[in-house]
Amino acid sequence: MWDYTDKVMELFYNPKNQGLLEDNQEPGIAVVFGEVGSIACGDALRLHLKIDVDNDKILDARFQTFGCTSAIASSSALTELIKGLTLNAALQVTNKDIAEYLGGLPEAKMHCSVMGQEALEAAIFKYRGIPIAVHEEDEGALICSCFGISESKIRRVIQENNLATAEQVTSYVKAGGGCGSCLANIDDLIAAVTKESALNIATDIATAQEQLQRPLTTVQKIALIQKVLDEEVRPLLIADGGDVELYDVEGDRVQVALQGACGSCSSSTATLKVAIEAKLQERISQKLLVEAV
Ligand code: FES
Repeated sequence: MWDYTDKVMELFYNPKNQGLLEDNQEPGIAVVFGEVGSIACGDALRLHLKIDVDNDKILDARFQTFGCTSAIASSSALTELIKGLTLNAALQVTNKDIAEYLGGLPEAKMHCSVMGQEALEAAIFKYRGIPIAVHEEDEGALICSCFGISESKIRRVIQENNLATAEQVTSYVKAGGGCGSCLANIDDLIAAVTKESALNIATDIATAQEQLQRPLTTVQKIALIQKVLDEEVRPLLIADGGDVELYDVEGDRVQVALQGACGSCSSSTATLKVAIEAKLQERISQKLLVEAV
């Protein structure tokens, strides 16, 4: 017996949005369906969408499925997740979102959530007139001939779900669950995707560091100086009956106007150097020099 969550059981016994959507030829409304799987393989899902053509929005979604408890619950969850979304927003829904909506699925049943995501794409591609054949040609080499699973499909499921073993890949997309001759290739793909992910992270960090080292633009510098003055300098001066206003910034020269008690104070030079210049140098750049106007 599988260890299903209460949400899975609830949607299995009382599925929401089960059935089909009739195309009543309403003006401004399109009805389309996408399907994946096959009854011969044990799982099949047909997802129906009712679309507001002007707004590209999903007004209603229904499903018909042939499969187990988790296939029914996943399909029902998918319809609840996508109703009211634009098509582009719906395309961002992943199998992980479906599983999370259900409070989780046993790993061996994750392929049901993947099937939902694929049916959604199939329906939207069909509505948009993207030929499925072209889409499939873009999917790269066939890795698992037993289940007809392509390299790109396996790569995607590894990336989106952080999969680390061929056994997990089998749970998510069935690849490797037949004769097993593709398992070594799946292991190679996992290694390649993991390496690519590590490289991408390293590139992101290097880019962020490079951006941090890039000189500030004048606009960025002025905004930062104003922020430090407002948040860290002026409250102290105001507490002593004074104040300061940013007058201008030329290169690294910061011109300020001392006000109130600060303007007539005999120690205004110390105020400039200690309270203002030192703080700006500490927070923004050691090169900044402050002078009064
Ligand atoms: S080729 Fe993948 S299980 Fe047979």
